[in-house]
Amino acid sequence: MKYKAPFVEPGKLYQKLKNELDQAYFEVMSKGDLIDRGQLRTFEENLAKFVGTKYAIGLNSGYDALHISLRVAGIGIGDEVVVPAHTFVATCSAVVNVGAVPVLVDVRKDFNIAVDRIEEVISDKTKAILPVHLNGYMADMNRIREIAKKYNLIIIEDACQSLGSSIDGKGAGSWGLTGCWSFYPFKILGGYGDGGAITTDNPDVALFARRMRYNGEDRDTGEYYGHGFTCLLDNLQAAFLDVKLRYLPEWIKRRKNIAERYRKAFSGISDLILPHYNRPGFDHVYQNYVVRSKQGDDFSDYLKQNGVEVIVQFRKPYYKHKALKLVDRGFPETEALCREVCSLPMNVEIDDEQIDYVIKTVRSFYRL
Ligand SMILES: Cc1ncc(COP(=O)(O)O)c(C=O)c1O
Repeated sequence: MKYKAPFVEPGKLYQKLKNELDQAYFEVMSKGDLIDRGQLRTFEENLAKFVGTKYAIGLNSGYDALHISLRVAGIGIGDEVVVPAHTFVATCSAVVNVGAVPVLVDVRKDFNIAVDRIEEVISDKTKAILPVHLNGYMADMNRIREIAKKYNLIIIEDACQSLGSSIDGKGAGSWGLTGCWSFYPFKILGGYGDGGAITTDNPDVALFARRMRYNGEDRDTGEYYGHGFTCLLDNLQAAFLDVKLRYLPEWIKRRKNIAERYRKAFSGISDLILPHYNRPGFDHVYQNYVVRSKQGDDFSDYLKQNGVEVIVQFRKPYYKHKALKLVDRGFPETEALCREVCSLPMNVEIDDEQIDYVIKTVRSFYRL
């Protein structure tokens, strides 16, 4: 089906940036700069500056950023890591794949970990808290830091959905031992294939990640510093991402503008909960505009049938997938929101007429 308002239109965005992206492509290709070259370093420097950390280390994906972060923190067999019950499954899988046990905590109305429930699950095996800043809005990092300090826990931030968001001006990805980033194509800063990064202020962490992404090798000396992985951010992707990063402040403004239009158009609809939290100091960048409709699938199906492409993440919480063998201790907020979530189109290539169409279609579902 051809949607009148697609969820994303990467081809349309490419046309807008064509000159710069093509130039980046030709430079990489003609110089043969494919692996671990200047484009990667430049992007890393610019990313670190943007996030507000000393270092950024480009990796293959957000998953790799989480995985390497857990390894650098020394987390492994027998350790427990606190994770939210509502997130993309990779947050939890990274914990399992280092041999540790994810301990799930319910979320609250803003989709982020319920900080007042974290202490209940802390045991003498707990080593880290892995908060996720979902949809472009940060978890309550001040409170998480207090808890981490009290119990001597490491914080690893899953910031994959929140590049550019902040609390009191301090950027997502600059609060923990590491911040983990994904440049999956549909992220707020998306590549043309998979990509990711770690940000950190700690030089040892940066060095470890640089070595581990290159099979444990120190590139200057050839010495192996452990059994590592092949998970370097490609130079070509880094070159593309660096072009896009320059536009990010402007794109965030556009996202906020779209969010405001949605807010104005839908705020009187009592069956719809909107993602506006008005918490002082918390800056929402709207990676996703996720509404909660009491009508669940009827609402999302209606939008799709009428030309608005929406995404439903997720109707089934990840911990309910049997093969993952996770402990479901009952997470009522996660379950309630999973029945109701619906992500409306939110991207920088969408035009005003398409936004009007989304608004009209949502309102028509509610017979307005
Ligand atoms: C919250 C969150 N964590 C982790 C990831 C994993 O990132 P990637 O797909 O780049 O591995 C994603 C990406 O979808 C994500 O949204």
